[in-house]
Amino acid sequence: MSKATITVLPGDGVGPEVTAQALKVLRAVEEKCGHSFTVHKRRVGLDALAAEGVAISESTFETCAQSDAILFGAVGSLPAGEDRSGGPRPEQALFRLRKEFGFFANLRPVRPFEALYGASSLKPEHLKGADMIFVRELSAGLYYGRLESVPGKPSEIRRTQQGTEAVDTLLYTEEEIERVVRAAFEIALDRERKVTSVDKANVLSSSVLWREVVERVAADHPTVTYEHMLVDACAMRLIRTPSDFDVIVTENLFGDILTDEASMLTGSIGMLPSASLGTRRTAGGMFGLYEPIHGSAPDIAGQDKANPVGAILSAALLLRHSLGLAQEASAVEEAVEAAIREGYRTPDLDEDGRTVVGTEEMGRRILDRLRQP
Ligand SMILES: NC(=O)c1ccc[n+]([C@@H]2O[C@H](COP(=O)([O-])OP(=O)(O)OC[C@H]3O[C@@H](n4cnc5c(N)ncnc54)[C@H](O)[C@@H]3O)[C@@H](O)[C@H]2O)c1
Repeated sequence: MSKATITVLPGDGVGPEVTAQALKVLRAVEEKCGHSFTVHKRRVGLDALAAEGVAISESTFETCAQSDAILFGAVGSLPAGEDRSGGPRPEQALFRLRKEFGFFANLRPVRPFEALYGASSLKPEHLKGADMIFVRELSAGLYYGRLESVPGKPSEIRRTQQGTEAVDTLLYTEEEIERVVRAAFEIALDRERKVTSVDKANVLSSSVLWREVVERVAADHPTVTYEHMLVDACAMRLIRTPSDFDVIVTENLFGDILTDEASMLTGSIGMLPSASLGTRRTAGGMFGLYEPIHGSAPDIAGQDKANPVGAILSAALLLRHSLGLAQEASAVEEAVEAAIREGYRTPDLDEDGRTVVGTEEMGRRILDRLRQP
């Protein structure tokens, strides 16, 4: 029997809808396998801004710090880029959690289910054998000039005598690159032992350093084959021959974009889970934050239309990486695949001849499979 403490941060938009289903799955695992999970539910994002005046309160942050794992929904209310109020932003909560807990490695597995080949925009023959995991650097790069004005790392729009200009800084230290590349090579040891490192070394200095570090880490892993690939070529190869990839390691922005692209292999962005890990250990594994890769989807929020699979598969990653419950994690993944094989789909995966169900019903179908002996 395992004991664990989990903080649930449902957040905004479809976040509460999909995390509710993921939480039911965790409760079902707890009951079926005799574990004991203490769950704290707290506000985050716009939900917290409205009720507490900050995107994440100190007490919520402290509750997270005392937990073995965080299950996160999504934050934000408007489609990305449309909030120009200049006020506190809901995303600050996520940036703070990632930065202060040192979550530098963001794992995003992409394995299209055969039963969903028809829902993908690619032809089925291109999807056969596709099974990859992205290891995205999460705590540095372009996104981290934003939080405060760090000397030497500007990110701002500024007025000059020549006119208005904007600057963002893409800065990586050797250490920041090395820890995430090492994580990718370690993961490859348990898979097909192939790493693709994605960069833009023909243009960016940060990518030149990235390549140097990859060469050094690769030398410590002689049983892992590796290649360097430019990000533009990778974007193309992901669609042309996705089965070429095993472990893909890349910097923050490239990883953000490439994984949204890769989600289309699975049929919907609502399918993909993620795990954000650092170095802190728990009794069963690593302290981590688990969330679907999608945002708050304001266009479908509150309509029982969101696909809960990304959130439920994130709960499976939580069981595996933070609680050390690998068998239970696999059982959840198998229950998801079984429900999909039986033909149940949320509207984002609508195909002829399938049963379209809402968020709650999809969750219920997965729970039914999970509870079967
Ligand atoms: N980690 C996060 O919390 C996170 C990540 C990305 C975006 N955001 C925020 O979310 C808000 C909306 O951003 P966006 O519209 O660019 O991205 P989004 O991922 O929320 O939505 C993009 C598209 O995918 C669809 N979609 C997303 N999740 C789905 C699901 N579970 N089931 C079915 N369809 C789904 C949406 O309906 C929409 O058409 C913004 O405020 C953005 O900043 C938050």
